[in-house]
Amino acid sequence: MQLIDGKSTAQAIKEEIAAEVSTLVGQGKKRPHLAAVLVGHDGGSETYVAYKIKDCEQVGFKSSLVRYEDDVTEEELLDRIAALNADSDLDGFIVQLPLPAHISEQKIIEAIDPAKDVDGFHPVNVGKTVIGLPSFVSATPYGIVELIKRYSIETSGKNCVIVGRSNIVGRPLSVLMSQKAINATVTVAHSRTKNLKEVCASADILIAALGFPEFIKEDMVKEGAVVIDVGTTRVESSETKSGFRLKGDVDFEKVAPKCSFITPVPGGVGPMTRVSLLLNTLKAAKNR
Ligand code: GUN
Repeated sequence: MQLIDGKSTAQAIKEEIAAEVSTLVGQGKKRPHLAAVLVGHDGGSETYVAYKIKDCEQVGFKSSLVRYEDDVTEEELLDRIAALNADSDLDGFIVQLPLPAHISEQKIIEAIDPAKDVDGFHPVNVGKTVIGLPSFVSATPYGIVELIKRYSIETSGKNCVIVGRSNIVGRPLSVLMSQKAINATVTVAHSRTKNLKEVCASADILIAALGFPEFIKEDMVKEGAVVIDVGTTRVESSETKSGFRLKGDVDFEKVAPKCSFITPVPGGVGPMTRVSLLLNTLKAAKNR
């Protein structure tokens, strides 16, 4: 069994990005600039956005944080998005989700200029991804594909089962895994899938993205399978200073001995998701 080290892979990619930024700036070009819009004070969102800003600093990007309280109106937010779209210094921006219930997330996503949509959530980017055109791919699927490539994992003709059909992970990942560069035969399993255990056990590559801690047990995994764990559920823990720890969707201790490759949680997909936002921002800067 080989552990897929997302942390060190992401670090290596960050170093590649930092070197490219130095070259760009050395050529007199503008430093890539990412902005994050954060509404309210949700603990998880605060943490994720703080990481995104820190990641920008580490690779030499400029970053901006735009904050609103929970009572911001949809109109105010749409006006700000229009201003960010028009800001010529800005290469890309994200609006951290979830948003308060009185704001339509879909309306907000569709207001973002697809050329600055480094989250890859805009329907134009999703649609381009589906038909294989250059696009911004959302960070988690992008990071998983990059990990698979960097570990030279054989994908052509392999059975890939993805458990979970979310718009930001399972669905776009199913598209990428079936494309010609990867050539896997893809099944998307979900809450209504019959015989889920057998479907999962047929996978050469099993990707768990359902958000249910330790759902994937050893009898759902084929001997020698590649297992990618997208789950990051925060569970209470007396063993950490924060009082929480992250649990994946895979029962790691029992499943790992059966695998050819497996991602840990934390330190697997998570760091790759973070670095993918930087890759998209660099691409947005170079596209301009
Ligand atoms: N909330 C959870 N994940 C994400 C993400 O990747 N982007 C944004 N904008 N919000 C999120």
